[in-house]
Amino acid sequence: MANILIATGNAHKFQEIEAIMGKVAALNLVYLDKSYRVEIIEDRETYEENAKTKVEGYLKFLDENQELKAKLNFDFIVSEDSGLEVECLGGAPGLFTARYVGENASDTANIEKLLNDMKLKKECAGSRHAKFVCYACLYDIKKNNFEYFYGELNGLIAGEISGTKGFGYDPVFFIQAFNKTAAQLNSSEKNKISHRATAFKKVAEAVSKREQCKSDDK
Ligand code: IMP
Repeated sequence: MANILIATGNAHKFQEIEAIMGKVAALNLVYLDKSYRVEIIEDRETYEENAKTKVEGYLKFLDENQELKAKLNFDFIVSEDSGLEVECLGGAPGLFTARYVGENASDTANIEKLLNDMKLKKECAGSRHAKFVCYACLYDIKKNNFEYFYGELNGLIAGEISGTKGFGYDPVFFIQAFNKTAAQLNSSEKNKISHRATAFKKVAEAVSKREQCKSDDK
């Protein structure tokens, strides 16, 4: 079974990814919680480059912590960079989604800024369309090769928060097919339709295919 390190310190993201990939194939997934302090500087100009930067940050951290690296004995590292793009704001917050208010901004502060910005922009009176995007990056240790997988979820930005589940902008991300915000969906509903689900199903399929080729070669 493939050992995969998920390059995130975000427990919510890891749980979503574990549930999504676990439905496609039997994989051994691990992540390092925030106490490991892996340093990542997300300052690139595209989501793909930011996702690659995350893998490189983990590779550097594990090279400096050989004992941990040997214990994890992973075959792949998978990272992701995701964001929210609001049409009437010209695609903002985009690459700045996590730090819309500034570094280490809380979800509540980011949502407040988003709703305020939309109140001030006249274009937002007519259209509140938005999408979550997710770019997953699969790094194969043996092949030293990076591959990218994309997913998106379309919705509308609600005028106020509703729901307590999920994370980030979920309380204002309204999904018409469910007539609910993402924060009102249970995890299995969200994991069927989310941007992360689409991207990570493709990752799990790619890993399974490679594992199959390895066992065919034996
Ligand atoms: P990243 O961790 O640098 O990829 O930042 C992505 C940011 O986008 C997160 O901090 C969240 O604020 C937001 N985001 C990404 N995916 C979701 C989601 O599924 N629900 C709500 N917010 C999300």
